[in-house]
Amino acid sequence: MSKLKIKVAPSLLAADFSSLASEIKRAERSGADMLHVDVMDGHFVKNITLGPFIVRAMRKVTNLSLIAHLMIENPEKYIEAFARAGSDMIIFHIETAKSPKGLIRSIRKFKKKVGVSLKPKTKANTIKPLLPLVDEVLVMTVEPGFGGQGFMRSQLPKIKEIRKNYKGDIAVDGGITYETAKLAASMGANVFAAGTYLFGSMDMKNLVSRLKGIRIRGDKG
Ligand code: DX5
Ligand code: ZN
Repeated sequence: MSKLKIKVAPSLLAADFSSLASEIKRAERSGADMLHVDVMDGHFVKNITLGPFIVRAMRKVTNLSLIAHLMIENPEKYIEAFARAGSDMIIFHIETAKSPKGLIRSIRKFKKKVGVSLKPKTKANTIKPLLPLVDEVLVMTVEPGFGGQGFMRSQLPKIKEIRKNYKGDIAVDGGITYETAKLAASMGANVFAAGTYLFGSMDMKNLVSRLKGIRIRGDKG
């Protein structure tokens, strides 16, 4: 396996939105590689968060990559808006994609990176044909919709199965702590999206460096 890099993506869902710019700066200073932005529409998941308007505001205050995790129905209608707002990567859910390859093409048209995500009940083989076409697979390790839930160990075999056929980035999202990140990495995950764990701490920098010290399974590095 080629050398995979551990990347840490603080999930802004757990940030204090009344001080968004300073929360973003806190994540920057912690050594985070990118920012994970959870977009929820109240249909695909039972919660509503934010749209392109807020992504545009975030874009103004940071140079870190903005990763838009779209937990929305009809994602094809919103690719352009999230791309133009300044997202660097757009992640769609396979469960919402009428034409996954068409969606990937439309994200590429805006020269953005592409990720595909799966809910806990969705099987690894549903995304197999897409693996050569995406930059990242995001494995949900909680039911999407809310931060602060417990990591689902039942998702570990899925990570391992995807890693068998995929050399790109595998991210995990939901219930990530140092311990659960280690478990996920032992199956081949290398990107950690973590909300409560990082934003809930007074010492995000220390936690980010600990996460970066984790070894990935099979990585000879
Ligand atoms: C859940 C979101 C996650 C969430 C993770 O639907 O996709 O990104 O912010 O939050 P924690 O790390 O608190 O589980
Ligand atoms: Zn997310």
